[in-house]
Amino acid sequence: MELAITLDNRLAESLHRQLYEELRRAILAGRLKPGERVPSTRAMADSLGVSRATVTLSYEQLIAEGYLEAAIGSGTRVCVQLPDELLQSLPVKQLKAESFSLNGSKTPAIKLSAYGNYLDDSKPLEGIDPDLPISFKTGRPALEEFPMAEWRRLLLRHCRTSSARLLDYAPDMRGEPKLRAAICNYLGRSRAVRCSADQIIIINGSQQAIDLVTKILIERGDTVAVENPGYLGARRAFLAQGAKLVPIPVDESGIVVEKLESKAASQVKSVYVTPSHQFPTGTMLPLQRRLELLKWAERRGAVIIEDDYDSEFRFGSRPIPALQGLSEGKNVIYVGTFSKVLFPSLRIGYVVVPESLARVFTRARWIADRQTPTLEQLVLADFLNEGHLERHLRRMRTLYAKRRQALIRGLKLHFEDRVDVLGENAGMHLMVRLQTDFSDEDVVLRATEVGVGLLSARIYYLNDSRAGEFVFGYGGLSERRISEGIKRLGKALR
Ligand SMILES: Cc1ncc(COP(=O)(O)O)c(C=O)c1O
Repeated sequence: MELAITLDNRLAESLHRQLYEELRRAILAGRLKPGERVPSTRAMADSLGVSRATVTLSYEQLIAEGYLEAAIGSGTRVCVQLPDELLQSLPVKQLKAESFSLNGSKTPAIKLSAYGNYLDDSKPLEGIDPDLPISFKTGRPALEEFPMAEWRRLLLRHCRTSSARLLDYAPDMRGEPKLRAAICNYLGRSRAVRCSADQIIIINGSQQAIDLVTKILIERGDTVAVENPGYLGARRAFLAQGAKLVPIPVDESGIVVEKLESKAASQVKSVYVTPSHQFPTGTMLPLQRRLELLKWAERRGAVIIEDDYDSEFRFGSRPIPALQGLSEGKNVIYVGTFSKVLFPSLRIGYVVVPESLARVFTRARWIADRQTPTLEQLVLADFLNEGHLERHLRRMRTLYAKRRQALIRGLKLHFEDRVDVLGENAGMHLMVRLQTDFSDEDVVLRATEVGVGLLSARIYYLNDSRAGEFVFGYGGLSERRISEGIKRLGKALR
């Protein structure tokens, strides 16, 4: 029996619980058929590299719940008849793949594609409990500071002059020309991106850009290099497409470009990077490494996916030109978003593609979801052209610099020399290394118990994760709440 089971001993969940879950899901999804024999506890333990007791515990639980049955002399099998209450309590998502209907008669299971199977089987994304009073969640801007009155005024301006054009399908799938021109101008000025408005495609946030890039450029089995640690949203998109990931380490200056020359990376065709503010470490890739990366890509004929998600927020350091600008736009796809500078539910981002790729991107965009809403695009274009974005950014830079200082002050006060703040003076989150006797899981648990949400950085690593690293998003928290949160954390870890 061939069953792909992955257990991760870094997770808080015990191994026997993980194995129980994996087997249960395989039974419910019909990948383990009714009546089918499962391996003996010894064979399963050997193949997974865990103790026999771990397997026995999971099997016993599955037998107790009616998923498996043990027959004397013929080993353990999947129950032929699954209990009704079990099927009735299934979430809708699982019902689609069932091989039994609710009344017990067999119905054909809906077969998923490789893409669907990957998504169905992947672990849920770890997040912070939204009910916690103080959440150091990453990627959340200071939403209460958004100039809503200005936005409303611009919205009304367009609604008042409502025309059929505003409501109809857009004639140009690349996005509103006025917005593309405004973005082109903004990127040239602030990020040294060199492009014409024809190379800019408006999309629904940078995650959609990553998804489209993946579909257009990556074949099943291709090798993609990713920063380690790195952004999960990109990794998952590549994996769902069937790509193999090669983790490239990140040091205090960002991705270690020379590791792209290693044997493991010899087949790499694309690399995903966050050079302006590495996610999650917060490092900034120096000019020298940027040039090395570009040289490597040119030599290799590889594509660089440059995700510039929050580099507008820099507190002191000078910006380094985007890879896209340094490369003269040849083999770099530049991705940006308004999720952090304005608000995430706006769902407007942009991708700057080499001229030769503009057509295929526009067509992929059309297949995916046609267009971004016209009204919001026009409002955003005015917001940029009338200087509101620059004004808002200036205010937010000052605000985030203060919030960042409050966080660092709190950490130094409560952890003294047991804390190391990593990364550059930029962005809306920072990664820290805490020296404590508690495991990462216990740190998160103890924080939760005092109403503080934070994430261990382990989830961002493909391998080689280090204990004691945590990511603190501070954009959405006032200085007072930041100080209070760190005070509570300090006490909880004493
Ligand atoms: C590194 C990075 N890239 C991309 C995104 C996606 O942003 P959006 O799809 O909202 O534009 C995020 C979100 O937090 C991120 O952290």
